[in-house]
Amino acid sequence: MRTAPTFRRGVAPDPLAKASAERIIDIRRWTEKLFSLRVTRAPGFRFVPGQWVRLGIPSGGDLPGGVIWRPYSIVSADHDDHLEFFSIVVPDGAFTSRLTRAAIGDTLYVEKQAYGFLTTARFTGGSDLWLLASGTGVAPFLSILRDPAVWQQYQNRILAYSVREARELAYLDEIHALAADPLLGDGRSTLRLVPIVTREKLPDTLGERLPVLLRNGELERAAGLPLDVARSRLLVCGNPAMLDDVRDALNDLGLRSDRSREPGQFATENYW
Ligand SMILES: Cc1cc2nc3c(=O)[nH]c(=O)nc-3n(C[C@H](O)[C@H](O)[C@H](O)COP(=O)(O)OP(=O)(O)OC[C@H]3O[C@@H](n4cnc5c(N)ncnc54)[C@H](O)[C@@H]3O)c2cc1C
Ligand SMILES: NC(=O)c1ccc[n+]([C@@H]2O[C@H](COP(=O)([O-])OP(=O)(O)OC[C@H]3O[C@@H](n4cnc5c(N)ncnc54)[C@H](OP(=O)(O)O)[C@@H]3O)[C@@H](O)[C@H]2O)c1
Repeated sequence: MRTAPTFRRGVAPDPLAKASAERIIDIRRWTEKLFSLRVTRAPGFRFVPGQWVRLGIPSGGDLPGGVIWRPYSIVSADHDDHLEFFSIVVPDGAFTSRLTRAAIGDTLYVEKQAYGFLTTARFTGGSDLWLLASGTGVAPFLSILRDPAVWQQYQNRILAYSVREARELAYLDEIHALAADPLLGDGRSTLRLVPIVTREKLPDTLGERLPVLLRNGELERAAGLPLDVARSRLLVCGNPAMLDDVRDALNDLGLRSDRSREPGQFATENYW
């Protein structure tokens, strides 16, 4: 498996050559720091669920080149005629402080090429697909869970989604609807959501960080499934410190990172 191309921040020399200008068609605010955007999709745009694309927003003229670019995971399904993205608002963040002020009808540039290897295509074998997310790292998993092939490929799907406060658990209705969608499951295949809320004490959610839950067995208990080399395949996405700690915990459980020359059981994607 090749590694993803190195992402370069900043200003692309010719944004219009590599991108299409799309129109914002919907905005959904989850909290003051979290929102989702839908944009039109260029007819030729192709991606594999789990991939990301660079988005560009006009800088307002205060940066050379006029457009600020950032990578974003695609939330929508490949069969959707729009593209959806789920975003944090970073205080004073160059990109998100502008994106959060965008309105329906505004232009967002979308690079024509999607990238990334946080996809199930990289794995061989396994019966259980574990998707472990912190914060907006849930975004690629929403696209993956909308992919009918993923429902055929695995017997069980587990989404463990960690946020600080319960109100930051976005897309819950959609996740529950996916579990009940007759076009995806066959009535017997499952999607188990394990919500994790780390800064509030709540019933029906786990309260510790993912690496702790992996080490003490609570995540396996909540999912009702064991983690092991033969049956488990894991994708992990979000906060880089979380990824480091989860990687160590998975290694201690005997699971290995999937590499081109050494197939393994898990793969990770850093958001910053
Ligand atoms: C492959 C890839 C896919 C990504 N997909 C998404 C996505 O789907 N949704 C999304 O919101 N972001 C995503 N990001 C992060 C995104 O590219 C930007 O970093 C983010 O939009 C903030 O941009 P900014 O210019 O406002 O702040 P930046 O200057 O880019 O970031 C400043 C700081 O904000 C924090 N931060 C950045 N992104 C996040 C985040 N997502 N959640 C929590 N804290 C963060 C970090 O501490 C970072 O150092 C992705 C990053 C990568 C590399
Ligand atoms: N969400 C907010 O209300 C808030 C408020 C102020 C500032 N911010 C800023 O917003 C950005 C991120 O916010 P976010 O809440 O979406 O993302 P986040 O900080 O990555 O938190 C999301 C989830 O990941 C967990 N996590 C963080 N580090 C981890 C690690 N090393 N191992 C395992 N789990 C870990 C968090 O647990 P813990 O709760 O234990 O950290 C939380 O459950 C940060 O830059 C932050 O400074 C957010």
